Amino acid sequence: MTGLRQNTAAFGHLQIVPKALSNIEQPSLATHVFGLDLKTPIMMAPTAAQGLAHSQGEKDTARGVAAVGGLMAQSTYSSTSIADTAAAGNGAPQFFQLYMSKDWTFNESLLDEAVKAGVKAILLTVDATVDGYREADIVNNFQFPIPMANLTKFSEGDGKGKGIGEIYASAAQKISEDDVRRIADYTHLPVIVKGIQSPEDALRAIGAGAAGIYVSNHGGVS
Ligand SMILES: Cc1cc2nc3c(=O)[nH]c(=O)nc-3n(C[C@H](O)[C@H](O)[C@H](O)COP(=O)(O)O)c2cc1C
Repeated sequence: MTGLRQNTAAFGHLQIVPKALSNIEQPSLATHVFGLDLKTPIMMAPTAAQGLAHSQGEKDTARGVAAVGGLMAQSTYSSTSIADTAAAGNGAPQFFQLYMSKDWTFNESLLDEAVKAGVKAILLTVDATVDGYREADIVNNFQFPIPMANLTKFSEGDGKGKGIGEIYASAAQKISEDDVRRIADYTHLPVIVKGIQSPEDALRAIGAGAAGIYVSNHGGVS
């Protein structure tokens, strides 16, 4: 069974157990995470290239998430820039997800922008250093028809006209505990390691100074 099918099957088995006799008249969904007060316990997962779905891309997502009091995570491969998406959120909390590049000057420039935009944490994705075998992309010869705003400084292009494999090729394939420390030291922000699937890796991430782990297998595809 593929990861995707296993995920779908596992999700299908989820059930909600109601809590009876709880003596609550007005239930509240408010929660507190990484020092942030949220009205809704929902984070918009970092999702690349939202301009494919809507002309306003991540800006409108940020507006929607802010309106319901949730948490917005911006992707490195967003269609709109870190600053524009942050501004659209109008002060609501946001995280920035980093697909680490082989080029540290580029990583630092993105992290600088994220810090300047006021993001509250860095999500460091560690489970997608190469692209998956995406048959539909091959059959359709899929190439991104629009640029990725954060890649415009990239000497190798902004993603437009490229397939996901070509984009991942610029990302770092080698990520270590030192990178977690380096990003935390550089930004002075909490670093949350995204894509952890085992207790051993969780401990390694926390040992390297991560403020948290994000348990995920990237939806079973990358
Ligand atoms: C269209 C799409 C784009 C995604 N883009 C990113 C991305 O840019 N960065 C990232 O870390 N994860 C990305 N993901 C993975 C999601 O953040 C998330 O991990 C995945 O949907 C599975 O959900 P889960 O982590 O809650 O299990 C993407 C997922 C989808 C469906």
